Amino acid sequence: MNANELREQYQKFFEARGHERIRSAPLLPENDPTVLFTTAGMHTLVPFLLGESHPLGRRLVNVQKCLRTDDIDQVGDTSHLTFFEMLGNWSLGDYFKKESLAWSYEFLTRDLALDPARLSVTVFVGDADAPRDDESAEVWRRLGIPNARIYFLPKKDNWWGPAGATGPCGPDSEIFYDTGKPAHPGCAPGCLCGKWFEIWNNVFMEYNKTADGRYEKLRQQNVDTGMGIDRTVAVLNGYDDVFRVDTLAPLIARVEELSGRRYADNLRAFRVIADHVRAATFAIADGATPSNVQAGYVVRRLIRRAVRYARDLEIAHNFCADLSGIVVNIFAPAYPELERNRARIAEELEREETKFQGTLARGLREYQKKVERTQSKGENTVSGADVFDLFETYGFPLPLTVELAREQGLRVDESGFEALYQEHKEMSRRGSAHIFKGGLADHATETTRLHTATHLLHQALRQVLGASVHQMGSNITAERLRFDFSYAEKLTPEQTAQVEAIVNAQITNDLPVSVQVMSLDEATGSGALAFFGEKYGDQVKVYTIGAFSKEVCGGPHVTRTGELGKFKITKQEAVGQGVRRLRAVLE
Ligand code: ALA
Repeated sequence: MNANELREQYQKFFEARGHERIRSAPLLPENDPTVLFTTAGMHTLVPFLLGESHPLGRRLVNVQKCLRTDDIDQVGDTSHLTFFEMLGNWSLGDYFKKESLAWSYEFLTRDLALDPARLSVTVFVGDADAPRDDESAEVWRRLGIPNARIYFLPKKDNWWGPAGATGPCGPDSEIFYDTGKPAHPGCAPGCLCGKWFEIWNNVFMEYNKTADGRYEKLRQQNVDTGMGIDRTVAVLNGYDDVFRVDTLAPLIARVEELSGRRYADNLRAFRVIADHVRAATFAIADGATPSNVQAGYVVRRLIRRAVRYARDLEIAHNFCADLSGIVVNIFAPAYPELERNRARIAEELEREETKFQGTLARGLREYQKKVERTQSKGENTVSGADVFDLFETYGFPLPLTVELAREQGLRVDESGFEALYQEHKEMSRRGSAHIFKGGLADHATETTRLHTATHLLHQALRQVLGASVHQMGSNITAERLRFDFSYAEKLTPEQTAQVEAIVNAQITNDLPVSVQVMSLDEATGSGALAFFGEKYGDQVKVYTIGAFSKEVCGGPHVTRTGELGKFKITKQEAVGQGVRRLRAVLE
């Protein structure tokens, strides 16, 4: 079975059990500054896990593009990846542990015909925040997993979420496949030796983590599951290496051609290159550009790491754009956005790679200077600070410097480098933790209110300035909304005041907000505004606010405008020919 077949078979299995398909959200979350990338299918579902009703019902299924950099140093082994596709099914306050685990077991052992004797599971051992999950263990026993293959583990292993500092989370039960490699003492599911492949995680999200660190029960009991496609396809084909799967193997084959080396002799370098170029390709397709900040920085780092590893293979010329073409070929049927952006992806990669090659060349010159300084002092060890500078400024990994030094009969202060590296890592960890402050859940409440306010603003502008006003873009953070629209002149203070007054009147009227699902044609036919910069699926959601506004939108929104507070425009500016930008807050 290949990845395309698994994607389809999984979604059909859950559709037959009452689930509706939802589309993969983009890899770069829209209107969401709390996370750089989508790291799990549940990201866009937070409001619904907290209790808001989803227009498609209580059972959902999808395939989600995910990018995670936490494990970047582990990429190079048999199963870790930065980019992966996650198959997921959700119960939004509907079924719970019994059905969820039974369906997972049924799908794996009957539909995919995996040998049940090779499956082991883990469940939550319990602590002061939540009890031991005997219920899941009991379900597993009834399904036929013996006690010897049910492991009770603590929170660090068997608890998932929240995605951020606060929000929905809960104990989980993970399903591991035994690849058959011999066990060593202490080897159990979760061990990274390569014996165990974690293939599916069933999370029982019935808790909400609060800002002060408490776990309170949610209004409803949810299920959030995730299964990695590459790992599962590997297991189905008897591979103990995900890079042999049809979603990665063609990249490995191409790197063999480009380098004239064999994969088997250079596992780590080949794996890093294949994984990182694949991840960068998907991220660029969804709008990221290599840069020094945020998502762009991650993409830059992925490309540069791939280039550094390619040096070990002595690939003589640029290769990233070439490999990205193969990524596009592999995935275009499932992700048309790749084909649409084929040329731009190749250009971005080519530009970044060329730039970095220049940095590397300068780094080599800098290295030479540092060596000369060291030798002129009569020393034969390159200092930790010098090695770290080469790493930080010129992207030289430690092994590269060590190798260069060895060629000249020098040593390298590796522990001095290690100390500086750890310090730096801690600082960037704090930096990225900051992005998650507040968490998806708190963030969701604020952005939901601003989202609804954006609809009111749009309609109010049309009333004051005329119906030729159209949305040209929007961006929402937890603090403010930003709205771009077509209009050639600066708004007068009177017009601004009028717009504010109209929006605030709709808030005072406490209008109900309702949602209907229909085709895009039906929606526009019924007079709903649609923003054509947006990508829509076959079915769209139309949000109606009293008799005041009707717009096609992904939501979510508040249920009544009375929840919004006071609306205030804080700034206006021109952002281009005939396009103005307003910023506004809810006080
Ligand atoms: N959200 C869960 C995970 O990412 C399913 O493992």
